[in-house]
Amino acid sequence: MSLTFAVVKDAIPFWWTCAALILAFFIFRLFTVPAHLRHLPCVPVLPLLISYLSGEVEDVRIKRHILPFANQRGEGIVLVWALGRWMIHILDQKLAVQMSENLTLYPKETPPDGLLLWRFIGGSNVLMTNGDIWKKHSRLIRDAFSLSIPVDQFTSLAKNLFTVINPPSSSTDTHTVCWSELAQHYALDAVGSSVLGHDFDAIRSESVFVKEYNGVMHDIANPLYLIAPFLERIFPRKKVIDRMDSLVNRFKKLLLDKRTDPGDDMMTFMLKDPEMSDTELRDNIVVLFIAGHDTSAGGLSTLIYFLAVHPEIQEAARAEVLRILGPTADPTLASLSAQSLPYLNACVRESLRINTPISYIVPRTTVTGVSLGKYYIPPKASLIYNIYAVHHNDGTWGDPNVFRPARFLEAEDKSTITTVLKDSWVPFATGPRQCPARNFAIYEQRALVVMLLREYTWTLPEDSIHKDGLKNAFSPFALTLPYDLNITFTKRKD
Ligand code: HEM
Repeated sequence: MSLTFAVVKDAIPFWWTCAALILAFFIFRLFTVPAHLRHLPCVPVLPLLISYLSGEVEDVRIKRHILPFANQRGEGIVLVWALGRWMIHILDQKLAVQMSENLTLYPKETPPDGLLLWRFIGGSNVLMTNGDIWKKHSRLIRDAFSLSIPVDQFTSLAKNLFTVINPPSSSTDTHTVCWSELAQHYALDAVGSSVLGHDFDAIRSESVFVKEYNGVMHDIANPLYLIAPFLERIFPRKKVIDRMDSLVNRFKKLLLDKRTDPGDDMMTFMLKDPEMSDTELRDNIVVLFIAGHDTSAGGLSTLIYFLAVHPEIQEAARAEVLRILGPTADPTLASLSAQSLPYLNACVRESLRINTPISYIVPRTTVTGVSLGKYYIPPKASLIYNIYAVHHNDGTWGDPNVFRPARFLEAEDKSTITTVLKDSWVPFATGPRQCPARNFAIYEQRALVVMLLREYTWTLPEDSIHKDGLKNAFSPFALTLPYDLNITFTKRKD
């Protein structure tokens, strides 16, 4: 008895030592730059770790830690620790183009972790595939987007928004609404009606889709599982998976309904392709749903915010709109063009630059060792095109943190600057895999803001959480989405 006790007593320090050594080994492995990447300039890990632990959002982390480090050293490529992974960030526009143009050397990376997001999105779609399969998806989706831009639908959705901002029963002309939420509902209805061929009616009703989608995205972004995605395999979250599967089933039902009740939408067009399997169609519908509404909603929140805090810019944009479209005519493709509304277009471009909806792309990988700029990039490295950093480069933009739409118009007078700014404005990325819906998204923004400018003036409420600068929500998926953005709209009299 006493002997057993002595053995156990002696064993305690031994096991503690083992546990401490194992822990030390894991911590060392977690934070030490792997040998094959050690030649790359590495952003200090400790500040990044503190940044993650303190809940800093991606755009702040890029501005505070990544850009200053790269700028001080004149580097266009830096190595960044990102929650246990090592990512090579490309901040130099020319190198980013070099990477984006070459789909063979730099294919999309197959996500190495067990994040539920990948289960939700699925693997057989335009976003996640490579090679010939990607070409098949891409061709179909690009053809679908080239059909027509549904300006009339954007306009009628804007009119729906008016009834929510300023309910007909209301006796006052001034209303404060949560614009970031309304923008999400507008973007969802836009993608629903014209791309998916389904009326979510998210603007006017409590959409079950929106509720379920937001719930699933919230669950997927659980910080513990983001830091350690392998936990999904050890402790699978049954309830979350069930909720996600039920949402995916809703998408499947949409597809079934579309087969029996075709419409004048892109999904109907895509369903006619005999080469697309049901799984491929399902995975694409989820991608179009996700890619198509959060991004646009983020852009619309940002644009309305900057016009609210710069009344003189809002007024100049309104004057242009009234001059070109008059007070009531519905917008058309021609009247919304960049040539027709250059100032408004500059405002849209500037807002997509300053608070880029997707701060960086899905990682690419190297299939073999390559030279990029002055560095050797080994095989199987993860590379990210850091769009937000390119949009905030002092050298290119001079005053990157200032909202100044006129920069795009000034540039038009000086051909050399034009090329630099044109090439460095990349909210939709660049190369063959850039956003296939960029025209759709740009017209969606222009149509809504034109309608709003004629109907209302707007300001930021006194007690806004954004009064000292626009704040984005935490997003594990590199989305830059302002949150709790209240805006006070006042109906115009003339
Ligand atoms: C302001 C709005 C938008 C922005 C800023 C934006 C930005 C981007 C960016 C940066 C990419 C490249 C991602 C990567 O390579 O990892 C991308 C790809 C994509 N976007 Fe958009 N997007 C917007 C709106 C939309 C809309 C409205 C749709 C569809 C309804 C859409 C569908 C897609 C798809 C399907 C891809 C994948 C293309 C491929 O991999 O070949 N996007 N978008």
